Order: sequence, then C-alpha cells, then structure tokens
Amino acid sequence: MTSTFPNISISTERLVLRPLDEDDIPALTEMMNDEQVGSWTDVPQPYTEARARRWITEYAPDERTSGRGLDLAVTEFLTQRLVGIVQLTKTDWHIRSTELSYIIAPWARGEGYASEAALATAQWLFGDQKLERIELRTAADNTASQQVAQKIGCISEGVLRGACIAHVHGDDGTWTDVRTDFIVWSLLPEDLEGTAEQLEDVDGFTSFADWN
Ligand SMILES: CC(C)(COP(=O)(O)OP(=O)(O)OC[C@H]1O[C@@H](n2cnc3c(N)ncnc32)[C@H](O)[C@@H]1OP(=O)(O)O)[C@@H](O)C(=O)NCCC(=O)NCCS
Repeated sequence: MTSTFPNISISTERLVLRPLDEDDIPALTEMMNDEQVGSWTDVPQPYTEARARRWITEYAPDERTSGRGLDLAVTEFLTQRLVGIVQLTKTDWHIRSTELSYIIAPWARGEGYASEAALATAQWLFGDQKLERIELRTAADNTASQQVAQKIGCISEGVLRGACIAHVHGDDGTWTDVRTDFIVWSLLPEDLEGTAEQLEDVDGFTSFADWN
C-alpha cells in the first residue's frame, strides 16, 4: 500500500493541478497577501517571497516524502496562470484518510475553481490512491469555504467548539487572533456519486480527471 503521494498532475476541464514550482513564487506571494487568506487560514501575514520559496522548496517536498500530505498548484489550463492551491495534510495511511483545504487567488474567486479543484482531487484520492475518507475543517463564519464543501458533496459532521483560531485585521494593520468554532465536513467515496453531474448542471462545469 502507498504511504506517500506520488508527484502527479491532475487535469480538469479548466484547470491543471501540479506540483508547486519556484516559478510560482511571485504569484503565490501575491495570492497569500489577502484579507480572506489572513482571516481564515494560518498563512502568516504579510507573506514574503522568502516564505513562498521555503514552502515550495522545503515544506511541500517534506510533506510529500514523509507521507503526511501533498501541496498542489492550481493553474488555469488555458493561461497557465496560478489561480490557487490545494493542500492535503495529516494523511493517515492506515485509516486511509486525509485533510483537504484550498485557497483561490482573490481575482479568480467566484468562478467555481475551488470546487472544481477540490472535486478532481477527491476523485483522484478515492479512485487512484484508494483513500476512504477526506476531511475538511472550515471556520464557522467562512461561508465561501462551506459553500465549496457543500457543492462537492461533503457531509457536515458537527462542530469542534473553540477549536479554530481565525484572525481579524485591525485598522492599524495588525492581525489579532480570534477563537471560533470549526465545522467538520467529510467526504466518503459514495458521497461523490452524482456530484460532478450536479456541478455541471449548476455551473456548466465538467469534471474529468486525467492524472498521470
Ligand atoms: C474559499 C475559497 C477557496 C473559495 O474559492 P472559489 O473559487 O471562489 O470557490 P467557488 O467559486 O468554487 O465557490 C464559492 C462559493 O461560495 C459562494 N460565496 C463566496 N463568498 C461568499 C460569501 N461571502 N457568502 C456566501 N457565499 C459566498 C460563491 O457564491 C460560491 O457559491 P455558488 O457557486 O453556489 O455561487 C476562496 O474564497 C478563498 O481562497 N478564501 C480564502 C482562503 C480560505 O478561506 N480557504 C478555505 C480554508 S478552509
């Protein structure tokens, strides 16, 4: 049984998910310096090019080779621009589960990219990697992230009270930690039945996974 994720790329109708590359540093840095990213993720603010470089050259390769996870760049197929990232963490190869999260660049939001990337990743995890459970955790007030979880077929399992540290941006530019709840979502292989078709109906989104 696999205990590390392979270096892969996954294609969908509009996107290519592939390993992060040092050429992504400028776009990644710009994407991370964003109010919503600062509020709902643990990505440090301000986010520097040096951090982006460390993530791409050290953290992401370590995560993959240790078996803990996988970090994928989400790019537009047509323009090859970096539009986001999908991250798998806390992978448990015995239970065959992993935790999935996503960030989409502010300029690319509202196009269904997070849903398309997350769904393709889930299809690959269940189909190719034989995982049996994907978990998502969203801050209680992170409506956009919850919409994505719902759209790809996740089931809300409950609330982890006080388990999330979100961040509030003050007028003076500083960030303050705010404790809030996590909503826990899960996706099992059977939850995906019909999800791609529903997304197609809603968004004109077509899903196909072409991983290699
Ligand atoms: C969450 C995030 C990845 C969504 O990316 P996206 O590509 O815009 O997502 P999609 O277009 O696939 O879907 C977003 C959905 O949320 C909805 N949405 C967005 N902002 C919303 C808001 N403030 N209130 C309600 N719904 C909202 C959109 O309308 C869309 O739903 P619809 O297709 O039914 O209209 C993006 O907003 C982001 O990067 N946020 C900051 C980082 C983050 O929070 N990551 C998640 C950590 S768990």
